[in-house]
Amino acid sequence: MVAIGSHYRVTGTTVINTAGRTCNFDYGLGLLGNGEYWSAIRPAGTPVALLTSQPLLDRFPEVRHALGQPQVVIVPDGEPGKSLNVVTSVYERLADTRFPRTGIIVGMGGGAVTDLAGFVAATWKRGARLVLVPTTLTGQVDAAIGGKNGVNLTDGKNLVGTIFQPERVIADRAVLGTLPDRDFRAGLAEIIKCGFVGDPVILDLVDSLPAGGPVGDDLLRELVDRGVRVKVGLVEQDEQDHGPRRYLNYGHTLGQAVEAATGYREYNHGEAVGIGMLFAASVAAIVQGARELPERTRRYLTRVGLPTRLSATVDFERIWTLMGQDKKAGSVGREFVLCLRPGVVRLTSMPDRAVAREAFRFVAGGERGTGRD
Ligand SMILES: NC(=O)c1ccc[n+]([C@@H]2O[C@H](COP(=O)([O-])OP(=O)(O)OC[C@H]3O[C@@H](n4cnc5c(N)ncnc54)[C@H](O)[C@@H]3O)[C@@H](O)[C@H]2O)c1
Repeated sequence: MVAIGSHYRVTGTTVINTAGRTCNFDYGLGLLGNGEYWSAIRPAGTPVALLTSQPLLDRFPEVRHALGQPQVVIVPDGEPGKSLNVVTSVYERLADTRFPRTGIIVGMGGGAVTDLAGFVAATWKRGARLVLVPTTLTGQVDAAIGGKNGVNLTDGKNLVGTIFQPERVIADRAVLGTLPDRDFRAGLAEIIKCGFVGDPVILDLVDSLPAGGPVGDDLLRELVDRGVRVKVGLVEQDEQDHGPRRYLNYGHTLGQAVEAATGYREYNHGEAVGIGMLFAASVAAIVQGARELPERTRRYLTRVGLPTRLSATVDFERIWTLMGQDKKAGSVGREFVLCLRPGVVRLTSMPDRAVAREAFRFVAGGERGTGRD
């Protein structure tokens, strides 16, 4: 592992162009704790608020120094931070210091913290400057890219949010070295999703892994590069999420319902999305005859050590209700992302109840659900 802060190396920058903004996505090693790197992107004297959780501040204290003693705003770690109560408390902290609109809010953490920071920046004085520092694999390949932010309500995930582009995203590979294995594997779920919706080569690479084994550095870099390319491509085509960007919701209809049904405790986001992709594959098998897809999906999830069965505590009726609350529901019927085969994706309406129940039975380990008699 490379220590953060001593030497740094920007190994690449992707410029993400959307109608509203240009975002520089820097990836490299040792960036976060390096004052020289930060001063190149942040003019001296610019007020900075570092929004992060206590465990992450403790883990990466160098960042605070490299930023020149910013205002530090601590938020709850992980999913509990994504709430309107927390948003209000952050506004109050910013108001205490009269934090200006021209200041930079730096959101450092996993997808939960960067989603929260994005929402705060989008709404603070109608839009402050935003830099995101994703510290999880999910954040570096997905959550910090594309400007979507949001907080949860008890009725469901991400029901309140905006699309607001950061001016920079800093993905420092060195920080991934401390990521717990379970969170690392959750990030691989989002990369597999990118394989289904845009780059099937990702799935071939995943297939080359020993089940549940380690992922070598070179392979990881290729998986990340490919995943990021899929996400950036869809965001650039459709920033406002009216069309193809919604392919990225693949696996999320059931996945987000599972997260909400289990109180955001039993499954992390990537695990839930993985099971959601299995559900979607089963729906494709039942309604479109994509018979190989469920087993293929299960194989990819197994390769990267992700769960492939929903626990018996999750009840179909609750999930069915929660899927109806999905924010992607439109006035003409709830939307569902269907993949017919890797790289071939459609936006369709929700499967009917009988199909959903059958597919649910498959992910709950009751088998069938593959369209076979
Ligand atoms: N906005 C988007 O487009 C988008 C896309 C995907 C996911 N998301 C959101 O992202 C969230 C999930 O993100 P996540 O998987 O990063 O989980 P997370 O943000 O909940 O973080 C998981 C855990 O990892 C810890 N952690 C973070 N970085 C670490 C590091 N380098 N070393 C050790 N521990 C570290 C955190 O403290 C936390 O406990 C969900 O809320 C999801 O809705 C948003």
